Amino acid sequence: MKVLVINGPNLNLLGSRNPDVYGNKNLDQVNDSIRVALPEIDFDFFQSNHEGVLIDKIQDADGKYAGIVLNPGAFTHYSFAIRDAIEAVEVPVVEVHISNVHGREDFRRQSVVADVCRGTISGFGVHGYVLAVKALQYEMKA
Ligand code: DQA
Repeated sequence: MKVLVINGPNLNLLGSRNPDVYGNKNLDQVNDSIRVALPEIDFDFFQSNHEGVLIDKIQDADGKYAGIVLNPGAFTHYSFAIRDAIEAVEVPVVEVHISNVHGREDFRRQSVVADVCRGTISGFGVHGYVLAVKALQYEMKA
């Protein structure tokens, strides 16, 4: 099973950005921990701060991966273009947030991508990425 993990804007700063909210691991360490937790999965990892680049990556993933695990960062809350890209592809997308977006500022409570994603995992720290892949695995077996 091939899975693409995509992180959006500012998630390249993991480890130094608000560690009380996002933890102490940098993005490479997070990606390594996902690989270690799920050795049976063939992972590709991608991060960009740019909306169009993320859209290109989602479009390009169609037919190549069993699923996408996507943390769209702040684009979650307002990018209709990323929403449209997710809606346009067949590959299932699981939305992930490291923090519990429902327990923070009001603007974070709205996700414009949630209803076109297969599901959402929020609030379990970086372990949420692993949970998202497990959800995809569960769906494949069901
Ligand atoms: C985030 C939550 C977003 O509101 C925020 O803009 C991020 C990270 C999370 O992983 O908790 O960049 O997606």
